Amino acid sequence: MAIESVLQENRVFDPPADLVKNAAVPGMEAYKALCAEADKDYEGYWARLAKEHLVWKQPFTKTLNEANYPFYKWFEDGKLNVSYNCLDKNVDAGLGDKVALIFEADDGKVTRVTYKELLAKTCQFANALKARGVKKGDRVVIYLPMSVEGIVAMQACARIGAIHSVVFGGFSAQSIRDRVNDAGAVAIITADEQCRGGKAIPLKPAVDEAIGLGGCESIKTVFVYQRTGGACNMVAGRDITWADAVAGQATTCEPEWVEAEHPLFLLYTSGSTGKPKGVQHSSGGYLLHAILTTKWTFDLKANDVFWCTADIGWVTGHTYITYGPLACGGTEIVFEGVPTYPDAGRFWKMIQDHKATIFYTAPTAIRSLIKAADTNPAVAPKNYDLSSLRILGSVGEPINPEAWMWYYNNVGGGKCPIMDTFWQTETGGHMITPLPGVTPLVPGSCTLPFPGIQATIVDETGTEVDWGKGGFLVVKKPWPSMIRTIWGDPDRFKKSYYPEDLGGKLYLAGDGAVRDAKNGYFTIMGRIDDVLNVSGHRMGTMEIESALVSNPKVAEAAVVGRPDDLTGEAICAFVVLKGARPNGDEAKKVVKELQDWVGKEIGPIAKPKDIRFGENLPKTRSGKIMRRLLRSLAKGEEITQDVSTLENPAILDQLKQAAG
Ligand code: WT7
Repeated sequence: MAIESVLQENRVFDPPADLVKNAAVPGMEAYKALCAEADKDYEGYWARLAKEHLVWKQPFTKTLNEANYPFYKWFEDGKLNVSYNCLDKNVDAGLGDKVALIFEADDGKVTRVTYKELLAKTCQFANALKARGVKKGDRVVIYLPMSVEGIVAMQACARIGAIHSVVFGGFSAQSIRDRVNDAGAVAIITADEQCRGGKAIPLKPAVDEAIGLGGCESIKTVFVYQRTGGACNMVAGRDITWADAVAGQATTCEPEWVEAEHPLFLLYTSGSTGKPKGVQHSSGGYLLHAILTTKWTFDLKANDVFWCTADIGWVTGHTYITYGPLACGGTEIVFEGVPTYPDAGRFWKMIQDHKATIFYTAPTAIRSLIKAADTNPAVAPKNYDLSSLRILGSVGEPINPEAWMWYYNNVGGGKCPIMDTFWQTETGGHMITPLPGVTPLVPGSCTLPFPGIQATIVDETGTEVDWGKGGFLVVKKPWPSMIRTIWGDPDRFKKSYYPEDLGGKLYLAGDGAVRDAKNGYFTIMGRIDDVLNVSGHRMGTMEIESALVSNPKVAEAAVVGRPDDLTGEAICAFVVLKGARPNGDEAKKVVKELQDWVGKEIGPIAKPKDIRFGENLPKTRSGKIMRRLLRSLAKGEEITQDVSTLENPAILDQLKQAAG
């Protein structure tokens, strides 16, 4: 197996001949021509694409404004509307009766929504927002399950120029409260319950609890989509059901023509400090990259059935569910449920039933479905007809070569190229990725930059390193879909992404990377900051530490990641209690208590998998926690590092074993 995996990593998978001929970017020469065009006239390149791929109400005359870097502006004197570009444009082009969304509910019920219908629903809900006083520039928090309404709510905000901030349905009341408070949101759009894995899980109570925590005084309206019709508390004067809100509203709504730089959305993500950052995206530049990447990375064409399995609570769901595929006039699958219900063949059955042609998912899902197929052959992909597939995608974390090969052979039938797309909440869309008709694939590598993206690798002084040498992944030039700022904290934006040590002009992604010495292919080595990636979900170690120490029992906590076969990384917490260090059953009890506590403070995805108790944490004499030691302990490695600077070496023994 070991020899085989090494051999496999050296294997190269050339693009299928028909894609080299017919893909949107047909062949390596076409790719190189685009890159050369961008190299020669960077602004001219993006200006050409922005004119060709977006419908402008008022054309832009200025392409890039770098005067106030790193607060770059793109297409700033142009005006457009994102929802117009996703819906009206397609209806006007004769696609009104084309299916935009194939929504499959948790229980398997399928609803199809055409472009004409989606436009009407969006306009109606846009009018409902306006009727409640929501206007251009207002922030609206969306806390909805995967649903047609979720997409309508986002599109409706875009239509009236309101700035949405989607909060993933798995986040807690406290997280909703923090985001509403930080954004100063005027409305929340939520549902009574969400259906996942055969169970109805309440959502609205978390919103009530969030508002009850205080700090959400800006909220005037709570819209409640009745997904299940289950009992639901409604506050008179504040809360209104979705049905009541749209009743009697017109199905047309003149779009609000906004400046290209007008914020389309905020999306909170974890950083190195305890407080999540409100990543602010633009309207024009963001949509341009959503469209280009959907067309070039996925080759989305008129007859495709596109399926991105992400949730709209993450950026992948924004760019590759709500905006990209719709702005390209595509047909896409929207799935409410989970990959393991009613069994772990659900994804494969849905690909078969809906004849999906493009499938985009996360390595963590693939790894868990490999495991499921190994234990229960009845749910293996080979039991389903997956012949409709032509392109596969992967996102969120590095895909290990074994998982890549399984995905390629078992899901793609050895004929579908895998797009291993590297990008981030901050980048808006793909940054480093193969293109299906262009790039020879090497399992585990995200290959080459998207045309026009000036990615490279530098050392700690900001100097480019040679291929073959590791370093920090940076982007040398601003690009249209980049983060514009951190909401309410421009200084943090500057410090986090344009650090002075690198000269102040390089975008620092926060990942380590290396380029192959021969072909320049990029391999992502993982985060260089205190950010973990658990099942493709981004978590700040400080955020989890803050949640732990807010528990009255906890004196001190340090959180690190350790490798995990299924989730990529697992959260490991080292905890010092205020009382005595617990043992045996008592320790197990406290572990459970602290896991639930973190689940409640942040959300279940942030629950530490291991918790270890010590009377203290390993610290230097100056009081700094030695995290690299904790990382070794978490991995179960023998401590070979120099511990001479450690004040209290004896506690290492206490921290070797996970409690509970
Ligand atoms: C971080 C960004 C991109 C949308 C979902 C995650 C890691 C992302 C890859 C990939 C290796 C990847 C990076 C990045 N990451 N894609 N293809 N290969 N690592 O967005 O939550 O903002 O996380 O995810 O570490 O910095 P996010």
